Amino acid sequence: MKKEEIISYLDTAWVARNLVVHEETVSTNLDAKQLAEEGAESGTLVVSEMQTAGRGRRGRTWISPAGEAVYMSLLLRPSCKPEQASALTLVMALAVLEAVEELKPESCGIKWPNDIVMNGKKICGILTEMSVEKNEISHVVVGVGINANQSSFDQEISETATSLFLELGKRVDRSWLISRVMHHFEEAYEEYEKTWDLTGLVDRYNRHLLNKDRQVRVLDPKEEYEGTALGINAQGELLVRKQDGELTEVYAGEVSVRGIYGYV
Ligand code: BTN
Repeated sequence: MKKEEIISYLDTAWVARNLVVHEETVSTNLDAKQLAEEGAESGTLVVSEMQTAGRGRRGRTWISPAGEAVYMSLLLRPSCKPEQASALTLVMALAVLEAVEELKPESCGIKWPNDIVMNGKKICGILTEMSVEKNEISHVVVGVGINANQSSFDQEISETATSLFLELGKRVDRSWLISRVMHHFEEAYEEYEKTWDLTGLVDRYNRHLLNKDRQVRVLDPKEEYEGTALGINAQGELLVRKQDGELTEVYAGEVSVRGIYGYV
C-alpha cells in the first residue's frame, strides 16, 4: 500500500488528510498515541503493512502479518466527556460495516459492540484507547484491523476468523477499502458530534446488529444471565430483556455477550 494510492481514493474533508504509512511498525495504535503526544491534529491516520506487536481487546495480541490485511489507527480529539468517547468504537464499527456493504456481501453485520462478522466469523476488530488528563480527553485512538485478503488463518483463530477474500471470493483493494471506511467514518462522526452520543446513528446501527432479537448470554462478572437482545441505546449499551421480563442495559466496558447458539 502506497500513501499516494490511498490519497487518490480519499474524498474526506479532514479525516485521514494527515496520513502516515509504514512498511512495518510495532502497533499503529502506539504510533497514533505517540503522534498525539507530539501534537498531531485530530483526524491523523496511521496505516501499516504489518505490525510486530498488534494489540487486541482484553490484552490479547492481534496477529498482524504483512501484505494481506488492513492495520490502521485514527487519532481523534473529541471535545466531549471521557465517558462519551466509548461510543466512538461503535461509530467506527458502523463505518467499517458500511464500507464493506459497498462490496455487496451476501451477509455482513455487527456483533455488539464492535466486531464485523460475515457468515458467523469475524472480519474486523476495533480497539479504542483513550488518554485523559484532569478529567478531559487529551486524545482517543481508534485502531482497526480488517481481514482483507488472507486466504487462511492460524488454527487457533480459524474457527472464529475469516477474510473478505474468503467470503467474497475476490481480492479487495486495501487502499480503496481504507478510504471508504474513512468516508463513512467522517459522515457518521458528524452525526455523533451533534449530541456526543449515538442518537442519530442508533437506527442505522441496529439495522445491522446481528444480535438483535436473538438470545444472548451476558457474561457479567457479578452475575451471568440470558435474555433477548433488543438493540442498542444512544449510549451504545445493549438492551437485553431478561427471562423474568426485566430490561437491562449492558455496558461494553464491563461485560461481553455470547450468542447461545454460537459466536454471534
Ligand atoms: C480486537 O481484539 O477485536 C481488536 C483488534 C484491533 C486490532 C487493530 S490492528 C490496528 C490497530 N493497532 C493495534 O495494535 N491494534 C489495532
